[in-house]
Amino acid sequence: MPTRHFLSLLDLSSDELRSLITHAIDVKQKLKRGIRHTPLNGKVLAMIFEKSSTRTRVSFEAGMSQLGGHAMFLSPQSIQLGRGEPIEDSARVISSMVDAIMIRTFGHERVETLAKNSSRPVINGLSDHLHPCQLLADMQTWFELRGDIKGATVTWIGDGNNMCHSYINAAIRFDFNLKVGCPKGYEPDPELSKNAGNRLQIFNTAEEAVQAADLVVTDVFASMGQEQEQQQRLQAFSGFQVSNDLMAKADKDALFMHCLPAHREEEVSTEVLEGEQSVVWQEAENRLHAQKALLELLMA
Ligand code: CP
Ligand code: NVA
Repeated sequence: MPTRHFLSLLDLSSDELRSLITHAIDVKQKLKRGIRHTPLNGKVLAMIFEKSSTRTRVSFEAGMSQLGGHAMFLSPQSIQLGRGEPIEDSARVISSMVDAIMIRTFGHERVETLAKNSSRPVINGLSDHLHPCQLLADMQTWFELRGDIKGATVTWIGDGNNMCHSYINAAIRFDFNLKVGCPKGYEPDPELSKNAGNRLQIFNTAEEAVQAADLVVTDVFASMGQEQEQQQRLQAFSGFQVSNDLMAKADKDALFMHCLPAHREEEVSTEVLEGEQSVVWQEAENRLHAQKALLELLMA
């Protein structure tokens, strides 16, 4: 059987994603009840982080231990990859010793090159282009609170970035309507967008995009690697903060999500982030449970 990777949500079918979420909810309950579940006994996950992380690192490391395995943290400063050893060679060597590799990096082609040269599953823990692991947690959170997301209206406010791209892929796989509200010039990748067909609509104001939303989602205006654009982006995104006024234009039962870390009073007001519609802490916790289900699917 060919090695299965998880570089994008599109690497799994709709049925596989739905059963992954059902399993994630089950492993979450097992953990809460203190029931041991160790299908990855003796397995090792190597984690390469070329960018910072709290949630991704803690969830994969804790998740592997809980499943009976081990996770190994590799920073570029501490391995030869950071001194110029090709990613192709690193992939061949690391995958000959472990059972799966997770990578967080800049260009998406680095994730693809790693996968192409790895004999074991590769997981995209965030690239400049996609952040599929976060979507597993977001979808789990929605399913726990509201049931299936098919046919719902989701609004993305802000940058057409890696998270927005993963929402577009989620709209395809889970069959929901996605309305993106972003400033001109910050739209999502048109190549990726066209796969979503008429499930995706793009607006250049937040107010138009948020109408009838069942779920409102945002993310930082400047992602990792764009720090030098912070000031310019703050100006470009004025009018795109998720505030109480904006939430009032969505459906009255709308939920609010954010992958975190959040910049309070930039992309989201403190009131919304800490308010009753916000489910960001449950969403963050679900990184653990959803990725445990993913690790089992790829490694068990
Ligand atoms: N949401 C997310 O991926 O968080 P970290 O950058 O802390 O991993
Ligand atoms: N878009 C953000 C997500 C962080 C989890 C970034 O890439 O920095």
